[in-house]
Amino acid sequence: MSAYRNRSRPTGSQVETPTLKLVPGRAVLGGYQRFTVGPKTLERSRNNYAAKFGALQKTFRVAKRLGCTSLNDLGSSNGLSSFLAAQEGFQQVKALDHDTQCVSVVNRAAQHVHLPVTAQQWSFGQAVPAADVSVMLALVHWVYSCTATLGSFKAIARYVATTCRRAAIVEWVAPTDPAIKAFNHLRFNRGVQKDPYTLAAFEAGLKAHFTHVRLLLKGTPTRWLYLCTKGPTAAADFKALGTVVPRPVSKPVRRPALKASRPLVTRLSAAQAARKRRAALAQSRLAAMGVVRRR
Ligand SMILES: C[S@@+](CC[C@H](N)C(=O)[O-])C[C@H]1O[C@@H](n2cnc3c(N)ncnc32)[C@H](O)[C@@H]1O
Repeated sequence: MSAYRNRSRPTGSQVETPTLKLVPGRAVLGGYQRFTVGPKTLERSRNNYAAKFGALQKTFRVAKRLGCTSLNDLGSSNGLSSFLAAQEGFQQVKALDHDTQCVSVVNRAAQHVHLPVTAQQWSFGQAVPAADVSVMLALVHWVYSCTATLGSFKAIARYVATTCRRAAIVEWVAPTDPAIKAFNHLRFNRGVQKDPYTLAAFEAGLKAHFTHVRLLLKGTPTRWLYLCTKGPTAAADFKALGTVVPRPVSKPVRRPALKASRPLVTRLSAAQAARKRRAALAQSRLAAMGVVRRR
């Protein structure tokens, strides 16, 4: 049994090497997550996952209103969620990842743009001081039995619950997800797998270690966000999130190619972002039919 690491990288599992360019007032990050961050601006270079980051932003706002001030970003990569949380007013944000190059670029970027984000090298399962909120996005399929060897959703949820006091936002990644189909994360360390990798087992794991678990967003057919809260009142407290979704699950659509950076996720509501996407898609379909010329 051994935890997977990408041999072409000094540490970590992603194939993408993080990059950083510092320009006056902004940091441009590249790699798995590509975005430009300033003290108050956050611009993603790819317009994918707009709904996911819209839902995240809304959840951060509600959490902030409830008095949450600290956040652990588990498997933070280049810290996109961490920077978003800091801009939403979280005062202590920890970006945690086993990839030392990610840790380095996040720390340098945070210092450059004066946001309260601190990155730290960390392995999933390692004890960390609990924050008010934890986020764990696009990670469950890696830590099940590939880069970590917990081998069950109950064990994963038990650990995540130790990293937060009030709530965790955890992303389900279905076995049919294109990333799993391509890399087959679940082929590693089959011997440690105690539960089946199924949605039912995932939800049962969360329910065993949080007081209340609810679906926040069906962002894509294979990636769903769950809000897991702790304590008798937390579920009621977070009720204000009632309007965040669920969005109907639809087949993935081909989006028009992006030529330049898209506007800030922090400046668009999820509904606005969805409207813009629909308009762009309609325009590209018309262009394909020769009705209009694409700019
Ligand atoms: C697919 S990326 C997701 C990044 C980010 N959470 C997001 O949603 O955009 C997974 C990240 O988790 C990190 N990671 C994977 N397995 C890990 C482990 N066992 N311990 C710590 N970090 C891990 C990788 O280095 C990578 O940055």
